[in-house]
Amino acid sequence: MPNITTSMKEHDIIKLKHHKEYVIMAVLKDFFIGLSENQMLNTAAKKYGLKLGAQRVVAGTNISETIESIKKLNAHGISCTVDNLGEFVYNREEALEAKEQILQVIEAIHNHQVDAHISLKPSQLGLDIDYDFCLNNLKEIVMKAKSYDMFINIDMEDYKRLQPSFDILTELSKEFDNVGTVIQAYFFRAEEDMKKFKDFRLRIVKGAYKEPPEVAYQSKEDIDKNFIKLIEWHLLHGKFTSIATHDHNIINHVKRFVQENNIPNDKFEFQMLYGFRTDMQLQLAREGYNFCTYVPFGNDWFGYFMRRLAERPQNMNLVVKQVFNKRTNTMIGLAAGAFMLGRWTKKGKKKRKRK
Ligand code: FDA
Repeated sequence: MPNITTSMKEHDIIKLKHHKEYVIMAVLKDFFIGLSENQMLNTAAKKYGLKLGAQRVVAGTNISETIESIKKLNAHGISCTVDNLGEFVYNREEALEAKEQILQVIEAIHNHQVDAHISLKPSQLGLDIDYDFCLNNLKEIVMKAKSYDMFINIDMEDYKRLQPSFDILTELSKEFDNVGTVIQAYFFRAEEDMKKFKDFRLRIVKGAYKEPPEVAYQSKEDIDKNFIKLIEWHLLHGKFTSIATHDHNIINHVKRFVQENNIPNDKFEFQMLYGFRTDMQLQLAREGYNFCTYVPFGNDWFGYFMRRLAERPQNMNLVVKQVFNKRTNTMIGLAAGAFMLGRWTKKGKKKRKRK
């Protein structure tokens, strides 16, 4: 007979270990999100080029390097969606510069006849400055892409930019049919949005930003459940579904679901980020599934890179092996601790002040 006292102890230890892991992950997530939003670090990183192992997950700093990366992926039957990295666009000049850069990428994709389209973020094109200004920038881009029969995906950012981004999509769709967007499964409103935009090409993701419990699911279980629900519905009723995830459980579920429901391969594709689970990307393409790699490029890489670490702090081991040894990992741990302590102290002060 098993010793009940011992197994209860074991159970408690396992519970404690999971709780500890959960707390460490939550602290690291906050830490990296904090870094991603740090304007000073973002500006500094631009000057120094791809560092800290970012070259493993960013395809290049300029268009020609990026075209070379796309050609390599195309050679394996993988198509690409290209993202001109950019954060913190607060003035019109920067937004116009970003627009010009994206127009040049469209031209380069066309000239080199590579299999690729564009992903862009409304905030980079002036959404935080002026809605109409942003809409006009997007119109110019979508019009140019349309002339080359190229698709434009509007990436989704945080909650405050969600509705304006859908409004832009609705406005653009009055003139163009080569535009689509992203549905983030962590939002309570995701199902309603997906049904409203079901006739668009939609990318479905879990969601990358830190959102409050008033608007978004917080636990992995709830997010995964909603993610699967949305994917299944859109595969059955939508126009074209891009399933963007590195989660093998979700991918295996989708493979079974499309087979059981006779959904043809040309109704959907899998998407992953450049440099992540490359073996699985190649394998899915070899198995005959449509596969599209999200290819970020440019010198504004820091925020993107930090968000990837926030999503999955283990990426730190995968990505920056050559830079981070045990000592630097410990230093990051200490910095994260100090960062959180700072935030809690600030919160405490604010509370005391309110009182
Ligand atoms: P998640 O990080 O939840 O991991 C689930 C499990 O998968 C892990 O526990 C592990 O077992 C396995 N796994 C994951 N990554 C692994 C790795 N690198 N190696 C080994 N195992 C791994 N978000 C957003 O808000 N707006 C957007 O527009 C987009 N766009 C976008 C495009 C594309 C192409 C992708 C892939 C993702 C986005 N995202 C996004 C990000 C998305 O919302 C989400 O934050 C990340 O994809 C992380 O969630 P996953 O579903 O990939 O797995």
